[in-house]
Amino acid sequence: MPGWLKNAVFYEIYPQSFNDTNGDGIGDFEGIIEKLDYIRDLGANALWINPCFDSPFMDAGYDVRDYKKTAARYGTNDDLIRLFETAHQKGIRVLLDLVPGHTSDQHEWFLESKKDEVNEYSGRYIWTSHAFEGIAGRPYISGMSDRAGAYMLNFFASQPALNYGWLNRTEKWMSAVDSPEAIATREAMKDVMRFWLDAGCDGFRVDMADSLVKNDDENKSATAAIWANVRDMLDKEYPEAALVSEWSNPYQAINGGKFHMDFYLDHWNNGYNTLLRDYETGGEDNSFFRSEGHGDIMRFLNDYLPKYNATKDNGYIAMFTCNHDTPRPARTLSAQELKLAYAFILTMPGVPFIYYGDEIGMRYLDVKTKEGGYQRTGSRTPMQWDHTRNMGFSAAEENSLYLPVDHSSDAPAVSDQINDPDSLYTLTKNITAIRHAYPDLQADGPFEVVYAEKEQLPFVYRRGSLVLAVNPSLEEKKAPVTFRENEPVFTVGKAEIRDGQLILSPQSFVILK
Ligand code: NOJ
Repeated sequence: MPGWLKNAVFYEIYPQSFNDTNGDGIGDFEGIIEKLDYIRDLGANALWINPCFDSPFMDAGYDVRDYKKTAARYGTNDDLIRLFETAHQKGIRVLLDLVPGHTSDQHEWFLESKKDEVNEYSGRYIWTSHAFEGIAGRPYISGMSDRAGAYMLNFFASQPALNYGWLNRTEKWMSAVDSPEAIATREAMKDVMRFWLDAGCDGFRVDMADSLVKNDDENKSATAAIWANVRDMLDKEYPEAALVSEWSNPYQAINGGKFHMDFYLDHWNNGYNTLLRDYETGGEDNSFFRSEGHGDIMRFLNDYLPKYNATKDNGYIAMFTCNHDTPRPARTLSAQELKLAYAFILTMPGVPFIYYGDEIGMRYLDVKTKEGGYQRTGSRTPMQWDHTRNMGFSAAEENSLYLPVDHSSDAPAVSDQINDPDSLYTLTKNITAIRHAYPDLQADGPFEVVYAEKEQLPFVYRRGSLVLAVNPSLEEKKAPVTFRENEPVFTVGKAEIRDGQLILSPQSFVILK
């Protein structure tokens, strides 16, 4: 386990929308370099950058055309290497986004694989024997190549599935997981990883990490075995490199696949979803952190605790404020509600991720789809730095921006919040600083539930020598107290201990030591 993860706080950057320094309307590596001090001052010491490789951008870069070449619109490989170096000088690690399950249909491997003549890449993707034979129950395309066969898709139509083999093979065209072609795909992906690790990156966020082996068993053990093999390589060759999976099943990803961390994704009705996004459009919002939400912390804990207990000795659950696929939490939560939510996320075990702009409460915008974003596009709009042209994101003409900026008169901006002691930015910065100051609050610090009752508040939890409590409601709430800690280290609102009761003011959060 890379030791630096213990105290890591990540900041996710969607590079298209972070900071444009050459006036072409889209963010770039130089723009990230320019803002490294901002990121460090916020308290983040690690970055995850969404795919920044050569791509036709049918899925915002998750359709990679060349794994070893950066997209020209962000800069050159050398610019990215300069970003690694500058970040390291400032104590910031950088994870790239590895997309191992599929490529773009314009990737050279696929162009070769489509050919009628058998070649090195014929088995790199999943193909049936002839064009009239589909892949039962799975999306595929046929009739687009000289090669007789249908090819399997892993996501959108432009993203053919790479071939890591099938565990339960029912057709003769299905490769075994230990076939030469399946092994070659795994080794090709390790080669990509070595290329960027040698160039100075600190690891990878792994896209759809659970999607590799088809017809896998219910524990996804064949897919996990591939990742365990990758982890072996990292342990030997790059022991400081970190891997985080988009899997959202920490038992499979961490215990099976030996990932260092696994994302707790926003899936309808799972524990994480009940915290910030427990709504269906137009329906009631019962998110735990909504002041009038009638949220229930037990819905979170019943899902989270078994996952945490099963994996805490082997790796970390990664909880985020949001990501590029998920509605911004400010879509339904007020600034005060967000403060309590971030204080909670940033004091839980595992590794927290802040999505760019969430620290100022950037909104989910109603914008047209871009690069295969569809409803996700509203969470991918330009960072709002100040109230100058295009909110400080870019000097380009407004109509040539990658996506429109938030034009509302009260659009949040870094410049308004950075010196305001009551802002969401300042809360985020302060709580992150406290996490850095107390090892008990970090990734592997202990976690224990002190007071949690169905549909009751507050929620009280212990992290080693500290007791933390949150009351998102508009009423004062009390919990019975048997602990002795009563010196506040951090408060939003008011808290006091009286007659064996912890009393929390409306919409409050407290850390006691
Ligand atoms: C998950 C990524 O987060 C998402 O943005 C992408 O569209 C799919 N995987 C396909 O790669």
